[in-house]
Amino acid sequence: MTKSPAGRGGTAAPARRETFSSRRLFILSAIGSAVGLGNIWRFPYVAYENGGGAFLIPYLVALLCAGIPLLFLDYSIGHRFRGSAPLSYRRLHRAAEPIGWWQVLICFVIAVYYAAIIAWAAMYTWFSLTKAWGDDAEGFFFNNFLKSADTAGLSFDFVAKVFFPMLAVWIVVIVIMVAGVNKGISRANAIFLPLLIAMFVILVVQSLFLKGAMVGLNAFFTPNWASLQDASVWAAAFGHVFFSLSVAFGIMVTYSSYLKRKTDLTGSGMVVAFANSGFELLAGIGVFAALGFMSVASGQAVEDVASGGIGLAFVAFPTIVSEAPFGAVLGVLFFGSLVFAGLTSLVSILEVIVAAFQDKLGWSRKAATLVVTIPIALISLILFPTTTGIQLLDTSDAFVNQFGILACALVTVIVVTAGLGSLPRLQRHVNKTSTIKMGVVWRILVGGVVPVALGYMLISELQIKGTEQYSGYPAWFNGVFGWGMAAALIVGALLLSLIPWGEKSKLNDPEYEEFNAVEVLEGDIDNNKIEVNA
Ligand code: ALA
Repeated sequence: MTKSPAGRGGTAAPARRETFSSRRLFILSAIGSAVGLGNIWRFPYVAYENGGGAFLIPYLVALLCAGIPLLFLDYSIGHRFRGSAPLSYRRLHRAAEPIGWWQVLICFVIAVYYAAIIAWAAMYTWFSLTKAWGDDAEGFFFNNFLKSADTAGLSFDFVAKVFFPMLAVWIVVIVIMVAGVNKGISRANAIFLPLLIAMFVILVVQSLFLKGAMVGLNAFFTPNWASLQDASVWAAAFGHVFFSLSVAFGIMVTYSSYLKRKTDLTGSGMVVAFANSGFELLAGIGVFAALGFMSVASGQAVEDVASGGIGLAFVAFPTIVSEAPFGAVLGVLFFGSLVFAGLTSLVSILEVIVAAFQDKLGWSRKAATLVVTIPIALISLILFPTTTGIQLLDTSDAFVNQFGILACALVTVIVVTAGLGSLPRLQRHVNKTSTIKMGVVWRILVGGVVPVALGYMLISELQIKGTEQYSGYPAWFNGVFGWGMAAALIVGALLLSLIPWGEKSKLNDPEYEEFNAVEVLEGDIDNNKIEVNA
């Protein structure tokens, strides 16, 4: 347990920043954050929509050239500056603070829809017992369960079967968050993550024995070289890798700020990155095995058996549940895994927001959690358990990914490298305590390859989404909940960074000053020092 000297010696000693009590708990929590709905729900449908097997190559390139290097960048910033995203960026440079708030607002958008998917999964865990979808998993999902409207819009027709599980999800995560980093987040991860891994492995092994599984896997693992020329496939891969690894939207900055000073940052990061991708590939294998099974059963090609999009996991998997031996068990394992994976990630997404307000306004943990999470829960409960919830979710997810996470990642690398020239300093910080040393390759990737690749992809995506209506939704709908939302994040970030860092804020926290003094002694913030690369 962390020491909290608040109150030690009697009076007003400021509460020390919480730290993960061990590296193991940090790794568990970071994996818990990374492995989420992104891996089990999002990866299969993004891969399916981007050509199945065609997606794996951009995915691996994105992971190795951008995902992992940016994960280390996030770690270096969070660990070096020991703060929530806005505070860490503020400490990096006064002008960089809006980046932190941009990340906070991205987390807000993700959190409000994320809870809805966890709620769907919770209901499907239950439905699996009776195979409630009968022989039409697709019709059941969209019509019976979600009561989805034919056209996208904003409706306040509530769907009780989604509302109540969502309410339960919000109550559970708020209780975890109020308890804090060690008593809440670490404990929840220490319980949910092992359960999730055990459930998921059994599930994937079982799905591999389905008739037709190999047909699906062939589709998944056969590269489609032609699609490598398609910029949107690359944008989807980069966006997905960032979402899935929890990089570039504040989570890893915030989590690494809770690490002790001497921590193997890169070694931990590698464990997290490979655990996350391993999980993702397993999920892809599970879902594509199911699609192969559906394809053989229906005599259609793998890419035609289910409508793609965000309902894929909720259509493909129930089909296996209905047909496979011990199907109900599989269903409980699959949807139960989604619930556990989703909860540990939602907690990390909310932590970005809670920590930001705690640092800026000097609120206590409990106050910050309640003041921040309850309004978010209300917004989520108003918008998503409705007959237009799924369309809203679709547009928000697509736009927050590309014009939120990707755009923010681009601005971050430009500001940190060309703008502030901070890479050598951050590199020295990471290398000081890490086993795997970052060398010139890391600097080239973060400062050169990533900005060029992201810049190119964003421009192409702007052209595509600017000329076609995303998902065929009405222009006003994509305008408000897609483009408008993405622009509002930037304006909001600028406004939030105008709030002054008052007396009570953590900006001039004595604990950080102590930490900083050691860094100065060790030469870590000497910008003139020439780095010898590993
Ligand atoms: N990294 C989290 C996920 O994959 C957000 O869902």
